[in-house]
Amino acid sequence: MSGNVVSASAIAIDEAARLLAGGELVAFPTETVYGLGADATNDEAVRRIFAVKGRPADHPVIVHIANRNDLGKWARAVSKGAAQLAEAFWPGPLTLILPRASTVLDQVTGGQDNVGLRMPSHSIARALLNAFGGGIAAPSANRFGHVSPTTAAHVAADLREAPAMILDGGPCDVGIESTIVAFRNDEPVLLRPGAISVAELAQVLGRSPLPPDAAAPRVSGSLTSHYAPRTPASLLKSDALRAELAQLTERDEQLAVLARTLERPADFEGVWIAARGDAAEFARDLYANLRALDAANADAILIETPPDDPAWLAVRDRLTRATQGEDDDRD
Ligand code: TXA
Ligand code: MG
Repeated sequence: MSGNVVSASAIAIDEAARLLAGGELVAFPTETVYGLGADATNDEAVRRIFAVKGRPADHPVIVHIANRNDLGKWARAVSKGAAQLAEAFWPGPLTLILPRASTVLDQVTGGQDNVGLRMPSHSIARALLNAFGGGIAAPSANRFGHVSPTTAAHVAADLREAPAMILDGGPCDVGIESTIVAFRNDEPVLLRPGAISVAELAQVLGRSPLPPDAAAPRVSGSLTSHYAPRTPASLLKSDALRAELAQLTERDEQLAVLARTLERPADFEGVWIAARGDAAEFARDLYANLRALDAANADAILIETPPDDPAWLAVRDRLTRATQGEDDDRD
């Protein structure tokens, strides 16, 4: 493993906070995925995030905050629905898109009038935020177009340039990025599904969030083939996958398979990952599994389609994006 990975002891967290204050970048674990953090009030530092990720500079980044009370420092208005969601789900895997306060940097918002805010629940992220004492701007700590990192080793292997420190807090529990909710005239809009489900949001809001549309704030993660492995990947229903596997001997192809219900055929020689369990367990291991499938250097990755059930919405979203093929315009 290359580059500045440090076990997240109290001493290391203090050092990381000092590095952030000095304008350096620090990667850190959250409950969702690892973030690549910078002082959200330092435009040079935020600019460096984009260079290290290889991400276009006009994409907004989420500001991570230590307390609900900090909302008012970053947002100039907090609608009733937003306050209810913050109360119910923070700290946790939820990002709120709110009208920005005038002091928020253009580098952070991508020049938009909104700012993305999230109070993470991971103990190391919270300790870092408390030690730093300000907002930390952090996108997922992966290179533009790659899957998000869920371990410190993923971060070290993926970025163009090592951050000053990578705090190692072990694998992330949620495994996919936060649920993102924006507000349009106080109406909630789901910009990115995540671990906080539509049903949970609806229960707190008293109504279901609207699906995103063209008028919603831009989320670079919704460019079609975000989260894509390099190997061509496709989603197949179990019957179709079974049929493909039955023809294996006639095909001169190496396959890597992410199965959910199918058993590995006796004559299958490629990489086979059996991802059992419910949607939360599947999500937790999803990006590590996609990396392992990609590392097999197979001709194709075949993924068994997840159930068509609301609990699997976020997993289906990420898998659909991962299987959309090559596209240079991805985040
Ligand atoms: O779980 C997460 O949200 C992780 C961890 C590190 O917190 N972060 C994350 O950041 O996934 P990122 O940048 O990889 O994805 C955040 C998405 C991006 O697609 C970005 O465009 C969108 O949120 N976003 C951030 N600020 C926004 C804003 N002001 N308006 C609209 N979209 C915004
Ligand atoms: Mg990302």
